[in-house]
Amino acid sequence: MKLYLDTANIEQIREIAGWGILDGVTTNPSLMAKEKGDYKKILKEICDIVKGPVSGEVLSLEKDSMVEEARELSSISEHVVIKIPCTADGLKATRQLNSENIPVNMTLVFSANQGLLGIKAGARYISSFVGRLDDIGNPGINVVEDLLALINLYRYDTEVIFASIRHPEHVRQAAIIGSHIATIPYNIFIQLIKHPLTDVGIERFLKDWQNK
Ligand code: G3P
Repeated sequence: MKLYLDTANIEQIREIAGWGILDGVTTNPSLMAKEKGDYKKILKEICDIVKGPVSGEVLSLEKDSMVEEARELSSISEHVVIKIPCTADGLKATRQLNSENIPVNMTLVFSANQGLLGIKAGARYISSFVGRLDDIGNPGINVVEDLLALINLYRYDTEVIFASIRHPEHVRQAAIIGSHIATIPYNIFIQLIKHPLTDVGIERFLKDWQNK
């Protein structure tokens, strides 16, 4: 499973990229809004750090403006993937961008049917927002499982991104069910590496060695 970092924060990206396990980055307008500076400059900086795909989202809602914005973002770096919301205009824009070889990450997907439409329109990635469905008492993992099943059944080459991750258990679930990608917030990445018994173990080893 590929591990992406879900942030627009340069320090966080440098830190996790330094671990040597980072496959890509996803951003969205809310994450970008937390950072100081120009949207395109931040995206460029991220692309300079990260070797894999970097998703940047369009702000327009209408097909032609989405396509125009996507072309602009895409010109920043060959790493850029365009996040397009799952709407009728989003599908039209995805079809157009697909014909121009601009990769699309269809975002805000909350059902297998939405995902299927995104796949049919030519999206390279489908971002299935698990946590936001969990938040309203609707198991988000079911959508990811359905999408993986239909991708296998029809041999589509679209990849599913297990997104809107709330806790380490989501990462474990993503891996176990065979999600192609999990996009993980920084604070969850930090939790993934931590275990109290690891800290206790290191302390004990060092103490034993010093007391030999
Ligand atoms: O990648 C999607 C993600 O950014 C949404 O997460 O926590 O805002 O639901 P969240």
